[in-house]
Amino acid sequence: MPAPFPFADRPRLFGVAVSHYQVEGDDPCDWTDWEAAGRTRGGACGRAAGSWERYEDDAAAAVALGANAFRFSVSWSRVEPRYGTFDEAALERYARLVARLAALGLEPVVTLLHYTHPRWFHTETPWTSPASVDAFARFAGRVARALGPAARCWTVLNEPFVLVLGGYLDGQVPPGLASGRDAARAFDNLLAAHEAAAAAIREASPGAAIGVAHNMMGFAPARPRNPFDRLLAAAAGRFYNRPLLDAFGEGRWSAFLPPFTRLAGRRPSLPASLDFFGVNFYSRLHLRFGAGGRRIGSFDYRDATGRGLTDNGWEIVPEAFLPLLREAASIGRPLLVTENGLADAADARRAAFLEEHVAVVARAEAEGVPVHGYLHWSLVDNYEWLDGFEPRFGLLALDRETLARRERPSAETFRRLAAEYLGRPAAPRRG
Ligand code: BGC
Repeated sequence: MPAPFPFADRPRLFGVAVSHYQVEGDDPCDWTDWEAAGRTRGGACGRAAGSWERYEDDAAAAVALGANAFRFSVSWSRVEPRYGTFDEAALERYARLVARLAALGLEPVVTLLHYTHPRWFHTETPWTSPASVDAFARFAGRVARALGPAARCWTVLNEPFVLVLGGYLDGQVPPGLASGRDAARAFDNLLAAHEAAAAAIREASPGAAIGVAHNMMGFAPARPRNPFDRLLAAAAGRFYNRPLLDAFGEGRWSAFLPPFTRLAGRRPSLPASLDFFGVNFYSRLHLRFGAGGRRIGSFDYRDATGRGLTDNGWEIVPEAFLPLLREAASIGRPLLVTENGLADAADARRAAFLEEHVAVVARAEAEGVPVHGYLHWSLVDNYEWLDGFEPRFGLLALDRETLARRERPSAETFRRLAAEYLGRPAAPRRG
């Protein structure tokens, strides 16, 4: 069987990405409870961008931008609001979206877990328990059957490693745990759940291409000549970027986070469950050795390249992108850039950001890195997990009162880049 990705009839993807909770609105889940408990600076998500009622308009806006792909996620809390009880109307709503995307010539790129969980999840089948694996696979199978063969591109899990760090080690996101043991268990079960979900999706939809979306970061020494800072930056890259790559590339992973956390495991059958690897790339951290107390160092964002920081203070650093794409390619799978973008309400930097990051994708491809697409985060201003509606990531600006969308000027640059990117002949398929 030929490798399902990239698709023979659509060798390149250029498009936009959103996630259910961040745009749909009114979706009670674990994150809603987190907001209510005052655990995030982001405040209440509320109506978000109202996309639950406006997905078709959003799809039309993506077409107007020249996109041929639309990444979205399915809300598990809508689809399975009570453990074991599925909401047919919710499944039907996503099926309608997929049908519309397909009719408009947009490749649906479907994510099944983008940070939020049904309210029952953390008590009934938490990620620390193997029961999570069957629960997730059952959900995945239901969704795949409901969406049908038009949904053939799947980034099953979004940023599972970040979920483990934030939810199980750092207490920043639900379920708010801070335990190395729980983190190690949750990571292993998430990977097992990916594998079981991949099998369920392939059974329902034999032509499906199965992927994962991994957040990859650049790391630099805060003092470039300081050997300890350099060691720390290299170690951070190994800890943050590698485990998921190793898991999907070799079926085993091992990562050590000082002082006490070790995430290590083996799943020899995992690599066969992956057809492509998705890279979410945003920025770079600068690390400085020696912070006092139990911590061995500190990190921050800084404007080392002179392009200015984004509205939420992140460095703009396309230079860090190419090495990360090369590293991702080292596991021998085709790549898709599943997210890349910036918070820029004034739209002062988005056009240049787009130009430079899409140029990196083209350069990577020219040197043989098998990258087959670019999806921009985000189509429309969205709710940000830790910062609410303040950071504006959208190619479309959102009026928070009326929920009307309006293209930002950089949309013009996106349109031109889409036409150029999709107009170039595609690299030959491997596999
Ligand atoms: C996440 C998105 C988020 C974006 C910008 C990504 O890592 O997948 O959900 O909105 O970062 O913060």
